[in-house]
Amino acid sequence: MSRRLLIAGNWKMNLDSRGATALARAVKHEIVQRKLDRDVMLAPPYPYLDTVARALEGTPILLAGQDLSRHESGAFTGEVSAGMLIDLGCHGTLVGHSERREHGGDTDDTVRAKLERAIRSGLSAVLCVGESESVRETGAAASMAFVEGQLAAALAGLTEEECAKALTIAYEPVWAIGTGKTASTSDAAAMHAHLRASVANLYSEALASRLRILYGGSVNAANAADILGASEIDGVLVGGASLKIESFGTIYRAGAA
Ligand code: 13P
Repeated sequence: MSRRLLIAGNWKMNLDSRGATALARAVKHEIVQRKLDRDVMLAPPYPYLDTVARALEGTPILLAGQDLSRHESGAFTGEVSAGMLIDLGCHGTLVGHSERREHGGDTDDTVRAKLERAIRSGLSAVLCVGESESVRETGAAASMAFVEGQLAAALAGLTEEECAKALTIAYEPVWAIGTGKTASTSDAAAMHAHLRASVANLYSEALASRLRILYGGSVNAANAADILGASEIDGVLVGGASLKIESFGTIYRAGAA
């Protein structure tokens, strides 16, 4: 089954409001001009969601949060709810990014709860999974078992229909994030195939064959075409290289006919 590619930019904690607006406008210009058969998603920092939403108005570019609260509303100082993201025009949100797991204390249980909150509130969700360097060092089989465990824990409360409607998976090996090291395309593709088989096991072949699985971790203008060329890889989640239109634009066009 051919799955439409998704090119997603995670701006992390970067830019200011002028820079965010300028970058959003530049991405809009690129997408409107090229009109490739690919989806584009941008995840700016929370304070710039509104300004980026305005800059993207009238385009098919999908706006996303970088995280969300597991709670619906209430006394949760500093947190942002699914409803607020929707209110600001978000289509979706990242969930379980390794930086939230590492610095924000997200456990597998938190990730499961956030994923359910996102999808049941009407957001699409990009669920991030990936092994650390120390797990990687123990071998490919151990890495696959670890990532499969993260996946199963996160999906524990979701129905097949919910996954079909709103779920994308992003495989982001932690050792490749921001390091300039990428998984080889064949290693990444093997992990994607393993994740797809896990989804088939947990739910069905039908869901597994239509679910998009993105790769993230030091994707850049030079390596994107190779990564996007792998049939198991349905798009990319880009950090650093999404902050400049030159590199993000090149990644958007990479390998396109
Ligand atoms: P880099 O592309 O900067 O390695 O970050 C990847 C990432 O974490 C995207 O979510």
